[in-house]
Amino acid sequence: MSNASIMAIAHRGASAYAPENTVAAFDEAIRLGCPAVELDVRLTSDGIPVVLHDETVNRTTNGSGRVSELSRLDLLRLDAGSWKHPRFAGTRIPTLDESLHAIAGLALPVLELKVPLESSVLRDILEPHDALADAVVLSFEPAIVAAVRRDLPSLRVGLLAEKWHTSLSRHALDLGASLVVLDVGVVAQPVADAVLQAGLRLWCYTVNDVGTAAACGAMGVSGIITDKPDLIRSRKRHARSM
Ligand code: G3P
Ligand code: CA
Repeated sequence: MSNASIMAIAHRGASAYAPENTVAAFDEAIRLGCPAVELDVRLTSDGIPVVLHDETVNRTTNGSGRVSELSRLDLLRLDAGSWKHPRFAGTRIPTLDESLHAIAGLALPVLELKVPLESSVLRDILEPHDALADAVVLSFEPAIVAAVRRDLPSLRVGLLAEKWHTSLSRHALDLGASLVVLDVGVVAQPVADAVLQAGLRLWCYTVNDVGTAAACGAMGVSGIITDKPDLIRSRKRHARSM
Protein backbone atom coordinates (compact mmCIF):
# COMPACT_ATOMS: atom_id res chain seq x y z
CA MET A 1 0.00 0.00 0.00
CA SER A 2 1.28 3.46 -0.87
CA ASN A 3 -0.01 6.35 1.15
CA ALA A 4 1.82 9.64 0.97
CA SER A 5 -0.49 11.29 3.51
CA ILE A 6 0.28 8.96 6.42
CA MET A 7 3.63 8.55 8.10
CA ALA A 8 4.59 5.10 9.35
CA ILE A 9 6.23 5.10 12.78
CA ALA A 10 8.06 1.89 13.61
CA HIS A 11 6.66 0.66 16.95
CA ARG A 12 9.60 -0.21 19.22
CA GLY A 13 11.55 -0.36 15.94
CA ALA A 14 10.58 -2.95 13.34
CA SER A 15 9.33 -5.09 16.20
CA ALA A 16 7.56 -7.65 14.02
CA TYR A 17 10.91 -8.64 12.54
CA ALA A 18 13.53 -8.00 15.23
CA PRO A 19 13.55 -7.86 19.04
CA GLU A 20 11.61 -4.78 20.12
CA ASN A 21 13.40 -1.71 21.43
CA THR A 22 16.85 -2.88 20.34
CA VAL A 23 19.32 -1.43 17.88
CA ALA A 24 18.60 -4.44 15.64
CA ALA A 25 14.95 -3.36 15.45
CA PHE A 26 15.87 0.30 14.83
CA ASP A 27 18.33 -0.66 12.09
CA GLU A 28 15.73 -2.86 10.44
CA ALA A 29 13.12 -0.07 10.49
CA ILE A 30 15.58 2.26 8.82
CA ARG A 31 16.63 -0.40 6.29
CA LEU A 32 12.95 -0.70 5.39
CA GLY A 33 12.82 3.04 4.76
CA CYS A 34 10.62 3.92 7.72
CA PRO A 35 10.64 7.69 8.33
CA ALA A 36 10.10 7.53 12.11
CA VAL A 37 10.99 5.15 14.94
CA GLU A 38 9.19 4.94 18.28
CA LEU A 39 10.90 3.63 21.42
CA ASP A 40 10.15 3.41 25.15
CA VAL A 41 12.37 5.08 27.74
CA ARG A 42 12.91 3.97 31.35
CA LEU A 43 15.57 4.61 33.98
CA THR A 44 18.02 2.14 35.49
CA SER A 45 18.75 2.09 39.22
CA ASP A 46 21.84 4.22 38.50
CA GLY A 47 19.84 6.77 36.56
CA ILE A 48 20.75 5.83 32.97
CA PRO A 49 17.92 6.26 30.43
CA VAL A 50 17.51 2.93 28.65
CA VAL A 51 15.05 1.63 26.10
CA LEU A 52 12.62 -1.03 27.28
CA HIS A 53 8.85 -1.27 27.16
CA ASP A 54 7.98 -3.27 30.28
CA GLU A 55 8.64 -2.36 33.91
CA THR A 56 10.61 -5.60 34.18
CA VAL A 57 13.14 -7.34 31.96
CA ASN A 58 11.30 -10.65 32.34
CA ARG A 59 9.48 -10.85 28.99
CA THR A 60 12.17 -9.61 26.63
CA THR A 61 15.44 -10.85 28.16
CA ASN A 62 16.91 -13.94 29.79
CA GLY A 63 16.91 -12.16 33.16
CA SER A 64 14.37 -11.02 35.68
CA GLY A 65 13.64 -8.01 37.81
CA ARG A 66 12.49 -4.43 37.58
CA VAL A 67 14.60 -2.21 35.38
CA SER A 68 14.43 0.51 38.04
CA GLU A 69 16.17 -1.90 40.45
CA LEU A 70 18.87 -2.99 37.98
CA SER A 71 21.97 -1.02 37.07
CA ARG A 72 23.18 -0.34 33.54
CA LEU A 73 25.88 -2.96 34.16
CA ASP A 74 23.24 -5.50 35.23
CA LEU A 75 21.34 -4.85 31.97
CA LEU A 76 24.48 -5.27 29.86
CA ARG A 77 24.72 -8.87 31.09
CA LEU A 78 21.27 -9.69 29.68
CA ASP A 79 20.41 -11.15 26.30
CA ALA A 80 17.53 -9.13 24.86
CA GLY A 81 17.38 -10.91 21.50
CA SER A 82 17.12 -14.70 21.88
CA TRP A 83 13.48 -14.59 23.00
CA LYS A 84 12.63 -13.29 19.53
CA HIS A 85 14.87 -15.63 17.52
CA PRO A 86 18.21 -17.37 18.13
CA ARG A 87 19.84 -15.28 15.42
CA PHE A 88 19.45 -12.23 17.68
CA ALA A 89 21.36 -13.85 20.57
CA GLY A 90 23.64 -11.36 22.26
CA THR A 91 21.48 -8.33 21.45
CA ARG A 92 21.52 -5.90 24.39
CA ILE A 93 19.05 -3.48 25.93
CA PRO A 94 20.28 -0.17 24.49
CA THR A 95 20.68 3.09 26.29
CA LEU A 96 18.69 6.01 24.92
CA ASP A 97 21.97 7.49 23.71
CA GLU A 98 22.86 4.31 21.77
CA SER A 99 19.35 4.22 20.32
CA LEU A 100 19.58 7.80 19.10
CA HIS A 101 22.95 6.99 17.58
CA ALA A 102 21.15 4.39 15.43
CA ILE A 103 18.11 6.55 14.58
CA ALA A 104 18.85 10.27 14.59
CA GLY A 105 19.63 11.75 11.20
CA LEU A 106 18.13 8.70 9.49
CA ALA A 107 14.59 8.74 10.89
CA LEU A 108 12.52 10.87 13.22
CA PRO A 109 13.08 9.71 16.82
CA VAL A 110 9.80 9.31 18.71
CA LEU A 111 10.47 8.87 22.41
CA GLU A 112 7.76 7.57 24.68
CA LEU A 113 8.70 8.43 28.24
CA LYS A 114 7.40 5.63 30.47
CA VAL A 115 8.84 7.42 33.49
CA PRO A 116 9.68 11.07 34.21
CA LEU A 117 13.14 12.14 33.06
CA GLU A 118 15.01 15.22 34.21
CA SER A 119 14.72 17.73 31.36
CA SER A 120 18.45 18.47 31.58
CA VAL A 121 19.23 14.77 31.19
CA LEU A 122 16.97 14.50 28.15
CA ARG A 123 18.46 17.64 26.63
CA ASP A 124 22.03 16.45 27.18
CA ILE A 125 21.28 13.17 25.42
CA LEU A 126 19.35 14.67 22.49
CA GLU A 127 21.65 17.60 21.79
CA PRO A 128 24.76 15.71 20.53
CA HIS A 129 22.50 13.86 18.09
CA ASP A 130 21.06 17.13 16.75
CA ALA A 131 17.70 15.77 17.86
CA LEU A 132 16.51 18.68 20.01
CA ALA A 133 14.64 20.22 17.10
CA ASP A 134 13.45 17.03 15.48
CA ALA A 135 12.55 14.49 18.14
CA VAL A 136 8.98 13.94 19.24
CA VAL A 137 8.26 13.09 22.88
CA LEU A 138 5.12 11.21 23.88
CA SER A 139 3.69 10.14 27.20
CA PHE A 140 0.51 8.78 28.72
CA GLU A 141 1.36 10.93 31.76
CA PRO A 142 0.06 14.50 31.40
CA ALA A 143 2.63 15.80 33.90
CA ILE A 144 5.48 14.41 31.76
CA VAL A 145 4.05 16.01 28.61
CA ALA A 146 3.71 19.36 30.36
CA ALA A 147 7.21 19.25 31.85
CA VAL A 148 8.92 18.45 28.54
CA ARG A 149 6.94 21.16 26.79
CA ARG A 150 7.86 23.71 29.47
CA ASP A 151 11.56 22.87 29.75
CA LEU A 152 12.41 21.88 26.16
CA PRO A 153 10.10 23.97 24.00
CA SER A 154 11.84 23.07 20.73
CA LEU A 155 10.56 19.51 21.03
CA ARG A 156 7.18 18.46 19.71
CA VAL A 157 5.16 16.69 22.40
CA GLY A 158 2.18 14.43 22.18
CA LEU A 159 -0.35 13.09 24.66
CA LEU A 160 -0.98 9.35 24.49
CA ALA A 161 -4.39 8.02 25.46
CA GLU A 162 -6.03 4.60 25.51
CA LYS A 163 -9.51 6.06 25.64
CA TRP A 164 -11.22 9.00 24.00
CA HIS A 165 -13.21 11.60 25.90
CA THR A 166 -14.57 14.87 24.63
CA SER A 167 -12.25 16.96 26.79
CA LEU A 168 -9.09 15.21 25.57
CA SER A 169 -8.21 17.72 22.85
CA ARG A 170 -8.61 20.64 25.25
CA HIS A 171 -6.51 18.80 27.80
CA ALA A 172 -3.76 18.13 25.22
CA LEU A 173 -3.70 21.77 24.15
CA ASP A 174 -3.51 22.94 27.76
CA LEU A 175 -0.44 20.72 28.23
CA GLY A 176 1.21 22.29 25.19
CA ALA A 177 0.90 19.17 23.03
CA SER A 178 0.66 19.47 19.27
CA LEU A 179 -0.25 15.85 18.82
CA VAL A 180 -2.70 13.31 20.23
CA VAL A 181 -1.84 9.63 19.94
CA LEU A 182 -4.81 7.32 20.42
CA ASP A 183 -5.35 3.58 20.56
CA VAL A 184 -6.62 2.78 17.07
CA GLY A 185 -9.53 0.89 18.64
CA VAL A 186 -11.14 4.11 19.85
CA VAL A 187 -10.64 6.15 16.69
CA ALA A 188 -13.71 6.89 14.60
CA GLN A 189 -14.48 9.80 12.27
CA PRO A 190 -16.09 12.03 14.97
CA VAL A 191 -13.05 11.50 17.20
CA ALA A 192 -10.64 12.33 14.38
CA ASP A 193 -12.70 15.38 13.46
CA ALA A 194 -12.66 16.66 17.04
CA VAL A 195 -8.89 16.29 17.34
CA LEU A 196 -8.15 17.86 13.95
CA GLN A 197 -10.62 20.73 14.47
CA ALA A 198 -8.79 21.57 17.69
CA GLY A 199 -5.68 22.14 15.58
CA LEU A 200 -3.93 19.00 16.77
CA ARG A 201 -2.37 16.20 14.75
CA LEU A 202 -3.65 12.67 15.29
CA TRP A 203 -1.58 9.49 15.32
CA CYS A 204 -2.80 5.98 16.15
CA TYR A 205 -1.26 2.87 17.67
CA THR A 206 -0.89 -0.02 16.88
CA VAL A 207 -1.84 -0.55 13.22
CA ASN A 208 -0.59 -3.75 11.62
CA ASP A 209 -2.88 -4.28 8.63
CA VAL A 210 -3.29 -2.30 5.45
CA GLY A 211 -7.07 -2.02 5.72
CA THR A 212 -6.87 -0.28 9.08
CA ALA A 213 -4.04 1.91 7.81
CA ALA A 214 -6.21 2.98 4.86
CA ALA A 215 -9.15 3.69 7.18
CA CYS A 216 -6.89 5.81 9.38
CA GLY A 217 -5.74 7.80 6.35
CA ALA A 218 -9.32 8.39 5.26
CA MET A 219 -10.18 9.77 8.70
CA GLY A 220 -7.30 12.24 8.67
CA VAL A 221 -4.85 10.38 10.86
CA SER A 222 -1.35 11.54 9.90
CA GLY A 223 0.75 8.86 11.60
CA ILE A 224 0.34 5.17 12.35
CA ILE A 225 2.53 3.41 14.86
CA THR A 226 3.14 -0.06 13.47
CA ASP A 227 5.16 -3.18 14.24
CA LYS A 228 5.49 -3.62 10.46
CA PRO A 229 7.03 -0.45 9.07
CA ASP A 230 6.85 -1.90 5.55
CA LEU A 231 3.05 -2.00 5.84
CA ILE A 232 2.74 1.28 3.98
CA ARG A 233 5.15 3.29 1.91
CA SER A 234 5.06 6.69 3.49
CA ARG A 235 6.87 9.72 2.25
CA LYS A 236 9.84 10.92 4.28
CA ARG A 237 8.60 13.75 6.42
CA HIS A 238 10.34 16.42 8.30
CA ALA A 239 9.34 16.57 11.95
CA ARG A 240 7.86 20.03 11.48
CA SER A 241 5.21 18.60 9.17
CA MET A 242 4.56 15.47 11.17
O1 G3P B 1 3.72 5.12 21.72
C1 G3P B 1 2.56 4.51 21.31
C2 G3P B 1 2.46 3.12 21.81
O2 G3P B 1 3.73 2.56 21.78
C3 G3P B 1 1.89 3.07 23.19
O3 G3P B 1 1.71 1.78 23.64
O4 G3P B 1 2.23 -0.03 25.18
O5 G3P B 1 3.28 0.01 22.94
O6 G3P B 1 4.01 1.60 24.66
P1 G3P B 1 2.86 0.81 24.14
CA1 CA C 1 5.47 2.91 23.31
